[in-house]
Amino acid sequence: MNLQNLTDTAKALVADGKGLLAMDESNPTCNKRFAKLGIPQTVDARHAYREMIVTTPGLGECISGAILYDETIRQQKKDGTPFLKVLTDAGIIPGIKVDAGARDLAAHPGEKITEGLDGLRDRLAEYFQMGARFAKWRAVIAIGDDIPSRSCIEANAHALARYAALCQEAGLVPVVEPEVLMDGDHTLEQCRAATEEVLRTVFIQLNSQRVMLEGMILKPNMVLPGLICPTQASVDEVANITVKSLWRTVPAAVPGIAFLSGGQSAELASARLNTMNLRFKSKLPWALAFSFARAIQQPALEIWQGKEANVPAAQQALLHRARCNRAARRGEYTAAMERT
Ligand code: 13P
Repeated sequence: MNLQNLTDTAKALVADGKGLLAMDESNPTCNKRFAKLGIPQTVDARHAYREMIVTTPGLGECISGAILYDETIRQQKKDGTPFLKVLTDAGIIPGIKVDAGARDLAAHPGEKITEGLDGLRDRLAEYFQMGARFAKWRAVIAIGDDIPSRSCIEANAHALARYAALCQEAGLVPVVEPEVLMDGDHTLEQCRAATEEVLRTVFIQLNSQRVMLEGMILKPNMVLPGLICPTQASVDEVANITVKSLWRTVPAAVPGIAFLSGGQSAELASARLNTMNLRFKSKLPWALAFSFARAIQQPALEIWQGKEANVPAAQQALLHRARCNRAARRGEYTAAMERT
């Protein structure tokens, strides 16, 4: 392991004004999003969609790294240029989702454990050899009656730490993603408590597995009330409580925190990230960046509709969201940007 290379990559992933584009939906998840819009759920459609994304002109101005899925990392443009080359030529670092998805945790109704550690060392070696320089593993934690349980949090944190140590051994920066889900009617305070407990446990496990904090990125949820909680929170409240929770739990050695969007609207995700940076950027030890999938892609997907003729307009929408989030990293995002 070369700590300097890992540190350099981690810093590049959260360089000023930049963030990650998550385009690593598994085939079932990608198909589900296509089905909602009447787009065929085929390998050809997924290929065309991902080609639209990676060939978006100017994407590298705002996107430091793109997280790919196993199917996508092996694909090429119609002219034969590998997607990996298209990305690196655009100054975008290729990354890869390496977890095998979340399954029911035995004896824990309503809770999940992320799988994929078996054989991971060999898969990471192959991805590094192909050109990936970072990886992602997502754990999901639900809030509900008597959950999350300690055992679910511990099992997921342990798997995240085992994954992260294997990544660093392979020369890949681990993006460590413990996602406390927005589904449900829980309050902002319940999300804060769960998020802090999860993050504390994750860092205990990362230390225990000897993960170098300088060579990783944390990808957490923002602290939010449940989607159907009757009391929703203002942008300011979300920014304040999210930063407070991270301040309490994330060691200063971590170079960057790149939020997932988790089902927030694209505009709200940008506004909340913007307020965090506007208010707190100069006081924080780590960069506050983004690693959005839906909050960058969704408007573009809705325009694309599976049609070649819509590619330029879809690319424009994708670039627009990437630029809004670049501005949000700098505390320069305004609602007026959405009208231009
Ligand atoms: P969303 O931004 O759509 O939550 O996706 C982020 C991600 O990569 C989930 O693993």
